[in-house]
Amino acid sequence: MPFSSDETPTPRQSVFRERREDAINRHLERTPAIYRGSIRIHPDADEWSRLRDDAPLSLFLTGPIGVGKTHTAWQASRQWLATTIGRTGRMPSIETWRSTALFDALRPDNRDYDAKTLTRTLQRADLLFVDDLAAARVSPTGWTQERLYEIFDERYINRRPVLITCDVLPGQISHIVGDRVSSRLGEMCRGGVLLLEGDDRRKGGVAA
Ligand SMILES: Nc1ncnc2c1ncn2[C@@H]1O[C@H](COP(=O)(O)OP(=O)(O)O)[C@@H](O)[C@H]1O
Ligand SMILES: [Mg+2]
Repeated sequence: MPFSSDETPTPRQSVFRERREDAINRHLERTPAIYRGSIRIHPDADEWSRLRDDAPLSLFLTGPIGVGKTHTAWQASRQWLATTIGRTGRMPSIETWRSTALFDALRPDNRDYDAKTLTRTLQRADLLFVDDLAAARVSPTGWTQERLYEIFDERYINRRPVLITCDVLPGQISHIVGDRVSSRLGEMCRGGVLLLEGDDRRKGGVAA
């Protein structure tokens, strides 16, 4: 139910506006403090987040450590949320996970999550954002890779977007997520693999 800001909103539009602001604030509350500030992001990430007609469905941010992948992804996810609400009138769900926490949560012996419920939630979320996909030093077991396959295959066949940050390319993570997930990610992110270049900003000396 988009409307322009110079018109007096109808009661229905006011309710919609409130719900939109609530959704954006909830997302901001779930955002780790250092990623909350508004930053300018790479034009391709910006296009993706604004659902431009020729933008890819999914975005895979890659590049060396400290180049700004995670900051870019959080900013892009905020913009994606606002755009999607404006475009569809729906309040989309976003699941955000650091890969190491995700792999832990999907382990068969994890007591905090029910694997079936979590798998379903991650299959159905309107956007799945996984940060630092290749970060795990120990690759997930076959069982966890099976859950990842269930999640990514369901998203793949239903054309549901993913937002990934990773310091290697989709084709180089088979040993972590398994061949089938790696292959699907390659296709889901075709045209949406964005290499961020530059120095490690954590070491300072690089202007924003
Ligand atoms: N667009 C940006 N403008 C200014 N500083 C940034 C920007 N993106 C990232 N940074 C800074 O760069 C550092 C690394 O960012 P981060 O997103 O964690 O990198 P990566 O995920 O690639 O390792 C942080 O200190 C962050 O504050
Ligand atoms: Mg990062």
